[in-house]
Amino acid sequence: NWSTGDILEEQVERIREQIGDARVICGLSGGVDSAVAAALVQRAVGDQLTCVFVDHGLLREGEAEQVERDFVAATGVRLHVADEQDRFLDALAGVSDPEDKRKIIGREFIRAFEEAERAIMREAAAEGEPIRFLVQGTLYPDVVESGGGEGAANIKSHHNVGGLPEDLRFELVEPLRALFKDEVRAVGAQLGLPAEIVGRQPFPGPGLGIRIVGEVTRDRLGLLRRADAIARAELTAAGLDSAVWQMPVVLLAEVRSVGVQGDGRTYGHPIVLRPVSSEDAMTADWSRLPYDLLARISNRITNEVDGVNRVVLDVTSKPPGTIEWE
Ligand code: XMP
Repeated sequence: NWSTGDILEEQVERIREQIGDARVICGLSGGVDSAVAAALVQRAVGDQLTCVFVDHGLLREGEAEQVERDFVAATGVRLHVADEQDRFLDALAGVSDPEDKRKIIGREFIRAFEEAERAIMREAAAEGEPIRFLVQGTLYPDVVESGGGEGAANIKSHHNVGGLPEDLRFELVEPLRALFKDEVRAVGAQLGLPAEIVGRQPFPGPGLGIRIVGEVTRDRLGLLRRADAIARAELTAAGLDSAVWQMPVVLLAEVRSVGVQGDGRTYGHPIVLRPVSSEDAMTADWSRLPYDLLARISNRITNEVDGVNRVVLDVTSKPPGTIEWE
């Protein structure tokens, strides 16, 4: 039985051995996993690490600012920000198959990293060494579900495992590969990361791209972002952030239903609330949120988000449902 301190020291040692004097980049997604992976690598090799934040345009409201502000404040890490919204949205145009979306997002991530690396090298010409390693915040459940574990089923291509291109020219550093989420949080706390980062609910790397059932467009992203911000704000206001594991908010962009608002007929899209409780994301149950909270979220979303006229609650456990809809 391992203590958090053991895990931390062992990983720091291993990372040092793997990386040596080389330079390394780490993509930050805004989530716990990449933040803890980056903080671990920084502990191990300090300034050899540059973090890269690729803004793929699939983030939730306020998330880009959170990465740039909270994480940098907590770690003092070197951060390179790449605005790649057009790249991702162009690549996703016309695509609605979930696996295709995941693979495209994974591929564009790596391309964006490669470009970021070149940009970093240009900025730091004097430092010479090419960047050899790429840090990934892959967790044990990601490994299993992407078909990498023993006896694993290929359920979804998690972008940080199954979606890497064949010609990837970085060697991977995956310090969280043997860990479950609660262990990652404990390691993050031990590393001194603030509670807002360590306690953050999981958010998938492909972001809102896999929470729009159908094609991903700017308009749909804007709509989902507003609905998601309302749902999160109300959950927080009710003091229930730690009572749920996460609450995906999903836009059914290819479904429309008839409604009535004011004097008029509407024909809008449904938003799905998917609050779940879980220990490790391998299995989950739907969270029994209070009805008055659900009512507030529903009222606000239908009133405040143009184009949405219905809010529905997902009452499926995992299995048979997965947590995300795609
Ligand atoms: P599912 O939908 O497979 O999700 O039940 C299990 C957990 O993993 C998150 N998730 C991802 N995380 N990259 C990630 O970093 C991904 O591609 C990805 N897909 C799902 C999901 O939010 C849940 O916490």
